[in-house]
Amino acid sequence: MVPLNANAVSRKYTGHIPVGPAASLDSESSIAGFGMSTLDKDSTVKAILKMRPLALSIFEKHNIDPWPDIHTTVGSLCQKHKYLWSVFQSEFSGLVVPCSATDWKPLPAYHLLDFLREEHREFLLVILPSITEALESAVRTSARLHPQARALAQEWPAFVSSLTEHIREEEIFLFPKILRYDYCLRHGNADPDFAGGSVNVFIAIRGLGNEHRQSESIRIFLDPVRIDHLKTESPEMLDAALLEKLECLGEKLKSHSRLESDALYPLATKTEKALLDARIAGSRYKVS
Ligand SMILES: [Fe+2]
Ligand SMILES: [Fe+2]
Repeated sequence: MVPLNANAVSRKYTGHIPVGPAASLDSESSIAGFGMSTLDKDSTVKAILKMRPLALSIFEKHNIDPWPDIHTTVGSLCQKHKYLWSVFQSEFSGLVVPCSATDWKPLPAYHLLDFLREEHREFLLVILPSITEALESAVRTSARLHPQARALAQEWPAFVSSLTEHIREEEIFLFPKILRYDYCLRHGNADPDFAGGSVNVFIAIRGLGNEHRQSESIRIFLDPVRIDHLKTESPEMLDAALLEKLECLGEKLKSHSRLESDALYPLATKTEKALLDARIAGSRYKVS
Protein backbone atom coordinates (compact mmCIF):
# COMPACT_ATOMS: atom_id res chain seq x y z
CA MET A 1 0.00 0.00 0.00
CA VAL A 2 1.42 3.39 -0.97
CA PRO A 3 0.91 6.23 1.52
CA LEU A 4 -0.77 9.22 -0.10
CA ASN A 5 1.58 11.65 1.55
CA ALA A 6 4.56 9.89 3.01
CA ASN A 7 6.29 13.18 3.80
CA ALA A 8 3.45 14.60 5.84
CA VAL A 9 5.38 14.23 9.08
CA SER A 10 8.94 15.03 10.08
CA ARG A 11 9.13 17.93 7.71
CA LYS A 12 9.84 21.57 8.29
CA TYR A 13 6.80 23.78 8.35
CA THR A 14 7.04 26.73 6.03
CA GLY A 15 4.10 28.61 7.42
CA HIS A 16 2.04 27.76 4.38
CA ILE A 17 -0.21 24.74 3.89
CA PRO A 18 -0.79 23.67 0.30
CA VAL A 19 -4.56 23.65 0.05
CA GLY A 20 -5.88 20.88 -2.17
CA PRO A 21 -9.33 20.70 -3.68
CA ALA A 22 -11.92 20.58 -0.95
CA ALA A 23 -14.31 17.66 -0.75
CA SER A 24 -17.15 18.82 -2.92
CA LEU A 25 -19.64 15.98 -3.23
CA ASP A 26 -21.38 17.78 -0.38
CA SER A 27 -20.93 21.43 0.48
CA GLU A 28 -21.00 20.66 4.22
CA SER A 29 -17.82 18.64 3.88
CA SER A 30 -15.84 21.74 2.99
CA ILE A 31 -12.63 22.33 4.92
CA ALA A 32 -13.44 26.03 5.15
CA GLY A 33 -13.41 27.31 8.70
CA PHE A 34 -10.26 25.58 9.80
CA GLY A 35 -8.51 28.88 10.21
CA MET A 36 -5.49 30.47 8.77
CA SER A 37 -2.62 28.63 7.20
CA THR A 38 0.08 31.30 7.23
CA LEU A 39 1.99 33.06 9.97
CA ASP A 40 0.76 36.62 10.37
CA LYS A 41 1.82 39.29 12.88
CA ASP A 42 -1.84 40.25 13.34
CA SER A 43 -3.00 36.75 14.17
CA THR A 44 -3.95 36.12 17.76
CA VAL A 45 -1.68 34.07 19.99
CA LYS A 46 -4.59 31.63 20.29
CA ALA A 47 -4.72 31.18 16.50
CA ILE A 48 -0.95 30.64 16.32
CA LEU A 49 -1.09 27.92 19.00
CA LYS A 50 -4.02 26.31 17.21
CA MET A 51 -2.09 26.34 13.95
CA ARG A 52 1.10 24.95 15.54
CA PRO A 53 0.82 23.73 19.16
CA LEU A 54 4.60 23.26 19.06
CA ALA A 55 4.94 27.08 18.89
CA LEU A 56 4.43 26.99 22.66
CA SER A 57 7.97 25.60 22.91
CA ILE A 58 9.27 28.87 21.41
CA PHE A 59 7.46 30.98 24.01
CA GLU A 60 8.74 28.72 26.78
CA LYS A 61 12.28 29.00 25.49
CA HIS A 62 12.02 32.78 25.80
CA ASN A 63 10.29 32.63 29.21
CA ILE A 64 7.08 34.08 27.78
CA ASP A 65 3.81 33.02 29.40
CA PRO A 66 1.38 33.42 26.48
CA TRP A 67 -1.89 32.77 28.34
CA PRO A 68 -2.58 36.26 29.75
CA ASP A 69 -2.23 37.57 26.15
CA ILE A 70 -3.92 34.67 24.39
CA HIS A 71 -6.44 36.95 22.64
CA THR A 72 -3.96 39.63 21.60
CA THR A 73 -1.89 39.54 18.44
CA VAL A 74 1.33 37.60 18.30
CA GLY A 75 3.05 40.77 17.04
CA SER A 76 2.03 42.62 20.22
CA LEU A 77 3.14 39.72 22.40
CA CYS A 78 6.59 39.76 20.80
CA GLN A 79 6.77 43.54 21.22
CA LYS A 80 5.71 43.35 24.87
CA HIS A 81 8.54 40.91 25.62
CA LYS A 82 11.09 42.72 23.40
CA TYR A 83 11.30 39.63 21.22
CA LEU A 84 12.10 40.47 17.62
CA TRP A 85 9.36 39.49 15.17
CA SER A 86 11.95 38.36 12.62
CA VAL A 87 13.45 35.98 15.22
CA PHE A 88 10.02 34.57 16.03
CA GLN A 89 9.30 34.12 12.33
CA SER A 90 12.53 32.25 11.83
CA GLU A 91 12.03 30.04 14.91
CA PHE A 92 8.43 29.36 13.90
CA SER A 93 9.36 28.32 10.38
CA GLY A 94 12.05 26.03 11.84
CA LEU A 95 9.55 24.01 13.89
CA VAL A 96 9.65 20.37 12.85
CA VAL A 97 6.55 18.21 13.21
CA PRO A 98 7.47 15.29 15.51
CA CYS A 99 7.67 11.85 13.87
CA SER A 100 5.21 9.04 14.54
CA ALA A 101 7.83 6.95 16.41
CA THR A 102 8.18 9.60 19.15
CA ASP A 103 7.86 8.44 22.75
CA TRP A 104 5.17 10.99 23.75
CA LYS A 105 4.93 10.22 27.45
CA PRO A 106 7.95 12.12 28.80
CA LEU A 107 7.41 15.10 26.49
CA PRO A 108 5.25 18.23 26.90
CA ALA A 109 1.82 17.76 25.31
CA TYR A 110 2.57 20.16 22.44
CA HIS A 111 4.64 17.48 20.69
CA LEU A 112 1.73 15.03 20.50
CA LEU A 113 -0.77 17.79 19.68
CA ASP A 114 1.42 19.09 16.87
CA PHE A 115 1.72 15.61 15.38
CA LEU A 116 -2.05 14.95 15.58
CA ARG A 117 -2.81 18.36 14.15
CA GLU A 118 -0.54 17.65 11.18
CA GLU A 119 -2.34 14.34 10.61
CA HIS A 120 -5.65 16.23 10.64
CA ARG A 121 -4.28 18.44 7.86
CA GLU A 122 -3.27 15.37 5.90
CA PHE A 123 -6.80 13.94 6.21
CA LEU A 124 -8.50 17.21 5.31
CA LEU A 125 -6.21 18.55 2.63
CA VAL A 126 -4.80 15.45 0.97
CA ILE A 127 -6.54 12.14 1.61
CA LEU A 128 -10.24 13.08 1.74
CA PRO A 129 -10.11 15.43 -1.29
CA SER A 130 -8.22 12.81 -3.26
CA ILE A 131 -10.87 10.13 -2.61
CA THR A 132 -13.66 12.62 -3.26
CA GLU A 133 -12.12 13.48 -6.60
CA ALA A 134 -11.75 9.82 -7.55
CA LEU A 135 -15.37 9.07 -6.60
CA GLU A 136 -16.70 12.12 -8.46
CA SER A 137 -14.75 11.16 -11.53
CA ALA A 138 -16.14 7.59 -11.40
CA VAL A 139 -19.69 8.91 -11.04
CA ARG A 140 -19.15 11.34 -13.93
CA THR A 141 -17.57 8.90 -16.34
CA SER A 142 -19.55 5.71 -15.69
CA ALA A 143 -22.72 5.61 -17.72
CA ARG A 144 -24.26 2.74 -15.75
CA LEU A 145 -23.10 2.54 -12.18
CA HIS A 146 -23.68 -0.57 -10.13
CA PRO A 147 -26.05 0.21 -7.19
CA GLN A 148 -23.32 -0.75 -4.71
CA ALA A 149 -20.96 1.71 -6.34
CA ARG A 150 -23.59 4.43 -6.31
CA ALA A 151 -24.24 3.73 -2.63
CA LEU A 152 -20.54 4.12 -1.83
CA ALA A 153 -20.44 7.49 -3.59
CA GLN A 154 -23.63 8.59 -1.83
CA GLU A 155 -22.41 7.62 1.64
CA TRP A 156 -19.05 9.32 1.22
CA PRO A 157 -20.07 13.00 1.78
CA ALA A 158 -21.71 12.17 5.11
CA PHE A 159 -18.54 10.41 6.22
CA VAL A 160 -16.41 13.42 5.18
CA SER A 161 -18.74 15.79 7.03
CA SER A 162 -18.67 13.75 10.19
CA LEU A 163 -14.87 13.33 10.19
CA THR A 164 -14.41 17.05 9.45
CA GLU A 165 -16.71 17.99 12.33
CA HIS A 166 -14.92 15.61 14.68
CA ILE A 167 -11.55 17.16 13.79
CA ARG A 168 -13.00 20.64 14.20
CA GLU A 169 -14.26 19.83 17.70
CA GLU A 170 -10.90 18.39 18.68
CA GLU A 171 -9.02 21.44 17.43
CA ILE A 172 -11.44 24.06 18.72
CA PHE A 173 -12.05 22.60 22.17
CA LEU A 174 -9.91 19.62 23.18
CA PHE A 175 -6.45 20.48 21.87
CA PRO A 176 -6.29 24.05 23.28
CA LYS A 177 -7.51 22.77 26.66
CA ILE A 178 -4.87 20.06 26.84
CA LEU A 179 -2.15 22.45 25.68
CA ARG A 180 -3.03 24.90 28.45
CA TYR A 181 -3.57 22.31 31.22
CA ASP A 182 -0.24 20.67 30.46
CA TYR A 183 1.49 24.08 30.56
CA CYS A 184 -0.15 24.88 33.92
CA LEU A 185 0.98 21.60 35.45
CA ARG A 186 4.54 22.09 34.25
CA HIS A 187 4.76 25.74 35.27
CA GLY A 188 2.46 25.84 38.29
CA ASN A 189 1.66 29.54 38.18
CA ALA A 190 -0.59 29.89 35.17
CA ASP A 191 -4.37 30.05 34.90
CA PRO A 192 -5.81 26.75 33.58
CA ASP A 193 -9.08 28.46 32.56
CA PHE A 194 -11.70 25.81 33.25
CA ALA A 195 -14.38 27.83 31.44
CA GLY A 196 -16.10 26.24 28.48
CA GLY A 197 -16.50 22.68 29.74
CA SER A 198 -14.66 19.61 30.90
CA VAL A 199 -12.34 17.58 28.66
CA ASN A 200 -13.51 14.44 30.48
CA VAL A 201 -17.10 15.13 29.54
CA PHE A 202 -16.07 15.87 25.95
CA ILE A 203 -14.16 12.58 25.69
CA ALA A 204 -17.00 10.57 27.23
CA ILE A 205 -19.77 12.14 25.16
CA ARG A 206 -18.16 13.19 21.87
CA GLY A 207 -14.62 11.84 21.53
CA LEU A 208 -14.89 8.09 22.02
CA GLY A 209 -18.25 7.84 20.23
CA ASN A 210 -16.88 9.62 17.17
CA GLU A 211 -13.71 7.51 17.07
CA HIS A 212 -15.93 4.42 17.05
CA ARG A 213 -18.24 5.79 14.35
CA GLN A 214 -15.32 6.58 12.04
CA SER A 215 -13.87 3.07 12.35
CA GLU A 216 -17.29 1.59 11.72
CA SER A 217 -17.78 3.68 8.55
CA ILE A 218 -14.37 2.70 7.22
CA ARG A 219 -15.12 -0.93 8.01
CA ILE A 220 -18.29 -0.68 5.91
CA PHE A 221 -16.49 1.12 3.05
CA LEU A 222 -13.83 -1.58 3.01
CA ASP A 223 -16.11 -4.52 3.63
CA PRO A 224 -14.49 -7.41 1.68
CA VAL A 225 -17.83 -8.66 0.33
CA ARG A 226 -18.71 -5.21 -0.96
CA ILE A 227 -15.24 -4.68 -2.41
CA ASP A 228 -15.27 -8.06 -4.19
CA HIS A 229 -18.71 -7.34 -5.53
CA LEU A 230 -17.65 -3.95 -6.86
CA LYS A 231 -14.48 -5.35 -8.37
CA THR A 232 -16.56 -7.77 -10.42
CA GLU A 233 -19.66 -5.73 -11.13
CA SER A 234 -18.27 -2.23 -11.46
CA PRO A 235 -14.50 -2.33 -11.96
CA GLU A 236 -14.51 1.16 -13.48
CA MET A 237 -15.87 2.47 -10.17
CA LEU A 238 -13.48 0.79 -7.82
CA ASP A 239 -10.16 0.76 -9.59
CA ALA A 240 -6.95 -0.20 -7.83
CA ALA A 241 -5.99 3.41 -7.10
CA LEU A 242 -9.25 4.27 -5.37
CA LEU A 243 -9.16 1.06 -3.35
CA GLU A 244 -5.61 1.86 -2.29
CA LYS A 245 -6.66 5.33 -1.19
CA LEU A 246 -9.53 3.96 0.87
CA GLU A 247 -7.23 1.39 2.47
CA CYS A 248 -4.67 4.10 3.20
CA LEU A 249 -7.36 6.23 4.86
CA GLY A 250 -8.51 3.21 6.89
CA GLU A 251 -4.97 2.48 8.14
CA LYS A 252 -4.20 6.11 8.95
CA LEU A 253 -7.49 6.70 10.74
CA LYS A 254 -7.01 3.55 12.78
CA SER A 255 -3.55 4.59 13.97
CA HIS A 256 -4.69 8.19 14.54
CA SER A 257 -7.68 7.07 16.63
CA ARG A 258 -5.53 4.61 18.57
CA LEU A 259 -3.02 7.32 19.41
CA GLU A 260 -5.78 9.62 20.61
CA SER A 261 -7.46 6.90 22.67
CA ASP A 262 -4.20 5.54 24.12
CA ALA A 263 -2.17 8.71 24.61
CA LEU A 264 -4.19 11.91 24.15
CA TYR A 265 -7.39 11.09 26.05
CA PRO A 266 -5.56 9.67 29.11
CA LEU A 267 -3.34 12.77 29.10
CA ALA A 268 -6.40 15.03 29.00
CA THR A 269 -8.10 13.17 31.83
CA LYS A 270 -4.95 13.09 33.96
CA THR A 271 -4.08 16.77 33.57
CA GLU A 272 -7.63 18.00 34.22
CA LYS A 273 -7.94 15.82 37.32
CA ALA A 274 -4.58 16.98 38.65
CA LEU A 275 -5.55 20.64 38.23
CA LEU A 276 -8.98 20.15 39.81
CA ASP A 277 -7.42 18.23 42.72
CA ALA A 278 -4.97 21.06 43.15
CA ARG A 279 -7.81 23.58 43.20
CA ILE A 280 -9.64 21.57 45.87
CA ALA A 281 -6.42 21.42 47.89
CA GLY A 282 -6.13 25.21 47.58
CA SER A 283 -3.03 25.14 45.48
CA ARG A 284 -0.96 27.87 43.93
CA TYR A 285 -2.68 27.53 40.54
CA LYS A 286 -4.50 30.67 39.54
CA VAL A 287 -7.83 28.99 38.92
CA SER A 288 -10.53 31.05 37.26
FE1 LIG B 1 -7.93 13.64 15.72
FE1 LIG C 1 -10.31 11.76 17.03
